Amino acid sequence: MKILMVCLGNICRSPLAEGILQQKADDAGLHWQVDSAGTNGYHVGEAPHRLSQKVARAHGLDISGQRAQNFVAADFERYDFIYAMAEDVMDDIRRISGRAFNPDKIGLLMDVLFPGKQIDVPDPWYGPEPGYHEVYDMIEAACAQIITQNIRSHHV
Ligand code: 4NP
Repeated sequence: MKILMVCLGNICRSPLAEGILQQKADDAGLHWQVDSAGTNGYHVGEAPHRLSQKVARAHGLDISGQRAQNFVAADFERYDFIYAMAEDVMDDIRRISGRAFNPDKIGLLMDVLFPGKQIDVPDPWYGPEPGYHEVYDMIEAACAQIITQNIRSHHV
């Protein structure tokens, strides 16, 4: 399984999502490759935001080695599933992908916990540190659910 986590800048939310889901998949013995990308391209090549790194580190997770990259239409071919952190990210992905957009291979991350409720992982970029903790907790809960669902679907 290859999974792609997508936000706007690929420096705040999706690096956390990549790190958290990769760690949970590894811990569960799943051979998954988790990556992340951004839709706006403003921070390509940069390491994750220092507050995302700090919050991750507080949870024993090192995301410092990640570098921001752009989401591209071909990611619908490269990945088995894509999670968008928010509805505006989903809109960007639709626009960037054009005919490559495949609704069967993409979902809002928080839909795994609250299907159809259209809950966004809020953009913490303009705010102080507590926003990054809130984002971490939301992503962590959703990723735990992804792992639980997957394990269940393969063992019943
Ligand atoms: P992210 O946060 O999408 O969670 O990485 C953002 C980071 C940078 C910008 C927007 C959102 N920006 O416009 O530069």
